[in-house]
Amino acid sequence: MLSLHIKIFDSMKTVLSGIRPTGNLHLGNYYGAMINFLKMQEENKCFFFIADWHSLTTHPDPALLHVNVTNILSEYLACGLDPGKATIYIQSDVPEIAELYLLLSMLAYVGELEKTVSFKEKARQNPDNVNAGLFTYPVLMAADILIHNADYVPVGKDQEQHLEMTRNYAKRFNHRYGIEYFKQPEAYNFGQELIKIPGLDGSGKMGKSEGNCIYLIDEPKTIEKKVKGALTDSGPEGPNMPKPDYIENLFSILKVVSTPEVVAHYDHLWNTGETKWYGSMKKQLAEDIIKVTTPIRERIHSIKSDTVYLRKIQKEGAEKARESAGKTLLEVRKIMGFKSF
Ligand code: TRP
Repeated sequence: MLSLHIKIFDSMKTVLSGIRPTGNLHLGNYYGAMINFLKMQEENKCFFFIADWHSLTTHPDPALLHVNVTNILSEYLACGLDPGKATIYIQSDVPEIAELYLLLSMLAYVGELEKTVSFKEKARQNPDNVNAGLFTYPVLMAADILIHNADYVPVGKDQEQHLEMTRNYAKRFNHRYGIEYFKQPEAYNFGQELIKIPGLDGSGKMGKSEGNCIYLIDEPKTIEKKVKGALTDSGPEGPNMPKPDYIENLFSILKVVSTPEVVAHYDHLWNTGETKWYGSMKKQLAEDIIKVTTPIRERIHSIKSDTVYLRKIQKEGAEKARESAGKTLLEVRKIMGFKSF
């Protein structure tokens, strides 16, 4: 029995994901990532953390740092991430990551870092603050991932280059020290299950820098206003016309939050070529979004106000994360030739 148990445990994959504390979670984060995290925490060894060191590269305001961290932590918990199942922690509570970052930086070539798309973009946007932390952002991210020797990292397309660099550092480490120590973490793609939530402005996906978001924390009135303001037109120009992107987007959100009957109803209206029903559809859409977000919003508020609980979660998460990180670091030091007294 015991050996069977160990085998099951061994075959469990390690999943790790981080988020920078630079804004609130929105509907796109919820359906695009969070729902999948909830499934993953049932079946894998999961690490979910808040990358507050990373946020210093662009958001260094001390008055906001802890507020932002607490917001995301409360939102994670309110969505159902369970500290009993996953290790949920704050990056800066785990100093082992900083040491691994230093060690990995010896394997990171300047030429390669200079070619990183995210670095070039940030440097262009903010030419007065091209700091070394921004430059070595991918090295810190690699340390985040390798400190727990993760198998899978669920990330969006924009992070794939960072993940490729992580694999390079892992390979280089293994090659330089002649040992297959670090795994080569892969981007976890939810494939078929991936739900993309578009923005309300007819542009691409919902994103915090796009300003087209519905946040989980938004009050019903705000949601109604945002949905009401979503881009539409005067209606279909005839029966069975293809939907323009901005209309298709509203249907995409409707498909996620409403019942199939509701979607079929408005699809039918579109196909008949009738006009003047967008108002009714938006009302329904807002109502169904509010149905999804209301329990989450209420939990966010109650968790956020419970500082004793939050402190306990932070402390326990840090302890669990440090235990795992400490093991890795000890082995890495040994492999590299450090000898402690
Ligand atoms: N760079 C990621 C982002 O901006 C956040 C992040 C930091 C991360 N460390 C990570 C994501 C480790 C996954 C794994 O979205």
